[in-house]
Amino acid sequence: MALASDSRHGMWSSRWLFVLAAAGSAVGLGNIWKFPYITGENGGGAFVLIYLVCVALVGIPIMMSEVMMGRQGRSSPIHTMRKLTDDANRSRRWTFIGWMGVIAGFLILSYYAVIAGWALKYIWITASGTFEAATPDLASSTFNEFLTDPLQLIGFQTLFMVLTIWIVGRGVSKGLETAIRWFMPLLFVLLIVLLGYSINSGGFAQGWAFMFDLKFDQVTPETWLIAMGQAFFTLSLGMGTMMAYGAYVPQSAGIGSTVVTIALLDTAVAVSAGLAIFPIVFANGLEPGQGPGLMFVTVPLAFGQLPLGAVFGTVFFVLVSFAAITSAISLTEPALAYLVEEYNAKRQRVAISLGVMCWALGLGTVLSFNVWSDFYIVGGLTFFDFVDYVSQNVMLPLGGLLIALFAVWALPHAVREKQLGLKPGALNVSWKLVGGVIAPVGVLLVFIYSVLPVLRSLYENVVALMG
Ligand code: PFF
Repeated sequence: MALASDSRHGMWSSRWLFVLAAAGSAVGLGNIWKFPYITGENGGGAFVLIYLVCVALVGIPIMMSEVMMGRQGRSSPIHTMRKLTDDANRSRRWTFIGWMGVIAGFLILSYYAVIAGWALKYIWITASGTFEAATPDLASSTFNEFLTDPLQLIGFQTLFMVLTIWIVGRGVSKGLETAIRWFMPLLFVLLIVLLGYSINSGGFAQGWAFMFDLKFDQVTPETWLIAMGQAFFTLSLGMGTMMAYGAYVPQSAGIGSTVVTIALLDTAVAVSAGLAIFPIVFANGLEPGQGPGLMFVTVPLAFGQLPLGAVFGTVFFVLVSFAAITSAISLTEPALAYLVEEYNAKRQRVAISLGVMCWALGLGTVLSFNVWSDFYIVGGLTFFDFVDYVSQNVMLPLGGLLIALFAVWALPHAVREKQLGLKPGALNVSWKLVGGVIAPVGVLLVFIYSVLPVLRSLYENVVALMG
């Protein structure tokens, strides 16, 4: 029976299930697809170090704030923010955090499903031996031909979306928990198998050096921007996902240690993904700085050259797909929980309607790779680039900034004491300093730096138009 203080959507059955669920949300395309390629493009080890600083000083305090607020509110981020502001006698304008999160989740899922669909397609073609002893030309033309075929892209996007909606429609314990109980342990096992394979590939020392050699000459202010954006995205922060998941956390779980565990797991998976990928890339004399194509061109090509490559290549794409689906289900939760609460609606019905709308928006991303590839929304950004930019570089940092400010400066101390066990004293002061000053200032600087060039280009466009 649900306690009065439980969420109406259900609860995680233990602290560990929350750790797995939150790690499931955090570990996704961001770790396996993005982290290795941006590390590759930004100088390896120095980037990894800067990224770790961002996780420790910004990511962890913001995640603690989100989980704490969620557990205090026990509802969707929008209703949680309403409750917290009412209880604390603060302006309801703070509820903006919840709204922005719902919209950001919707935008991110729209393109996330398209890219996760590519991973599904690659399970199939890798298993059928397409890349065995393939040439670089074959690997890149396979990917390029796939991208220019909107119908195929839509087919795999639809498959991924149907799986996601089916899982979330079943509810927190039957849907989310069941998927997480199966997929997360499997994901860890597959990753360890791949690491073992890569250690024996002959390129491990080079891969290791690439990930951990500190090449500070390659660090620019841009590196910080990219690292901070990555920390937000990979830890699923700034859009209320952790707030929504936090609403289902049992009261007995300690938030600080739980959040640190989640961040460590997420980082361990990202670094392991790099260590699984780069050695096989080097073992074949391929280039690590291949950008987004690293996972869909270089990696299949590299597996194809190695013994049992088709089997391990398939394992790799199954891993990516599991990781993507546990993240996708978390992207729907803020909006889904809100609609169920607001309209007293059936979860399954809401899930389907939300899924259909998100799928339709995703068609814009599909077309950005073919029919609309020359159509720019602003400053050379295609539809996909634009949705990605606005959600990831604008909404997540802005959400994170407001969440940190709210949690530290607007929420009454009693809530922090109840949820985090923070008594007035040194620990409380350092929490205020990191969560309330260092994290917001860091996010703000990065945010301004990332938004200014776009605003300038918008301004120049308007001036040019007016003539
Ligand atoms: N953390 C996920 C990844 O690294 O792929 C992406 C993500 C999921 C971002 C959920 C935001 C979110 F709310």
